[in-house]
Amino acid sequence: MRDSKFAIEIKNLSKYYGNLAALKDVSFQVKRGDFFAFLGPNGAGKTTTINVLTGLSNYQSGDVRIFGYSTTKDYIQARRLVGLCAQEFNFDPFLTIRNLLVFQAGYFGILPPKAKRRADELLERFGLYEKRNAKHRTLSGGMKKRLLLCRALIHEPEIIILDEPTAGCDLELKFQIWNYLKELNQEGKTIFLTTHYMEEAEKLCKTIGIINSGNIVRIGEKSQILQDKSLQDVFIEVTGLE
Ligand SMILES: Nc1ncnc2c1ncn2[C@@H]1O[C@H](COP(=O)(O)OP(=O)(O)OP(=O)(O)O)[C@@H](O)[C@H]1O
Ligand SMILES: [Mg+2]
Repeated sequence: MRDSKFAIEIKNLSKYYGNLAALKDVSFQVKRGDFFAFLGPNGAGKTTTINVLTGLSNYQSGDVRIFGYSTTKDYIQARRLVGLCAQEFNFDPFLTIRNLLVFQAGYFGILPPKAKRRADELLERFGLYEKRNAKHRTLSGGMKKRLLLCRALIHEPEIIILDEPTAGCDLELKFQIWNYLKELNQEGKTIFLTTHYMEEAEKLCKTIGIINSGNIVRIGEKSQILQDKSLQDVFIEVTGLE
């Protein structure tokens, strides 16, 4: 891994879907070892940013780096360092959940004996070991969330990118995920997560970034962002209730 001070460096990134500008000249960095919360309303551009960071989406202009590696020119090195816990479930329907993890490890060059050990450790850690021979469609929603997390962690990535990891989780699972992410961060891993829960950002992160309509509107230390008076009022207009 390159000796980069930043886990993520995004410079002047623009991304269009047809005529829709999803990201407009976005620039920001995430320090190595940071716990970064990426906030913004539905459609703001959070998942698009994650897709660009993980090479799932192309982009029209800009420079995007993971620990100094360009996500386009040095794609393999960059992707190897990232664990992605996506917003949507996208599992292979034909594999047992254990094999799903073993196959994922294979993409990163981890051979079956080690992959199986690591898969079992993670399944145990997230309370899925009993289900190891089941297919993912037989899991509950919360169990699928845990499986997404196991898959993100299978190759021991340096940065874990999580797109709304606790949406739809019960309280116990939410706290379990929070604790695990805190532990990983204390071990020195960089965490980048999107969330709609201010409490989550407040409890966990060190840095907050806010995006709206494809523009970065704030980036800063948590305490600084939380004290920003202009972000404290939310106006909701409700119509059509008479
Ligand atoms: N594959 C796609 N094709 C066309 N437009 C897309 C595509 N993916 C996202 N968009 C559009 O890009 C914009 C940003 O979407 P994105 O998924 O990045 O938002 P988000 O911040 O993750 O929102 P949410 O909180 O709802 O997950 C939206 O206007 C969305 O409709
Ligand atoms: Mg999203």
